[in-house]
Amino acid sequence: MLKRFGVSIDEKLLSEFDAIIQRKGYYNRSEAIRDLIRDFILNECVKEDGVVYGTITFVYDHEEADVIEKLVEIQHLSRDMILATTHVHLNENLCLETLIVKGEAKKIKILADKIISNRGVKNLKYAFVTPVP
Ligand code: NI
Repeated sequence: MLKRFGVSIDEKLLSEFDAIIQRKGYYNRSEAIRDLIRDFILNECVKEDGVVYGTITFVYDHEEADVIEKLVEIQHLSRDMILATTHVHLNENLCLETLIVKGEAKKIKILADKIISNRGVKNLKYAFVTPVP
C-alpha cells in the first residue's frame, strides 16, 4: 500500500534536486525519493551490523612491489565474504578488479580499507547494494 506525505523544502534545494533527477532520468520525484530512502535505510543497517550484498571495485598497478601477493592474501583471508571476482587488464600495468561480496557491512568496509591501504592500489569504491533477503 502506498502512503503519501507532504514535505516542506527550500525552493532552491528542490530545484537543484529536480535538475539532478531529471538528468538521471527519473520519471518523477517520488521514485527518486523512494530510492534515496532505500539507500538511507541500507546505510543505517550498516551501522547495525546488517548483512548486505555489495561490491568493492579498485584499480591497481600490478608492477608495484608485492601488491599482487598482498591482494591475493587479503582476498583469501576474506574468502567467506567474497562471492566472485572479476579482473580486467586496463593497460600494460593497470588492473581493475570488482569483488562481489556478502557479509556484515562493517566487515565489508574493513576489507575495503585493507585493500585501499596497499601501495599500488590507486582508487577504490565500495557499495552496499541490497540487504540479504
Ligand atoms: Ni591485470
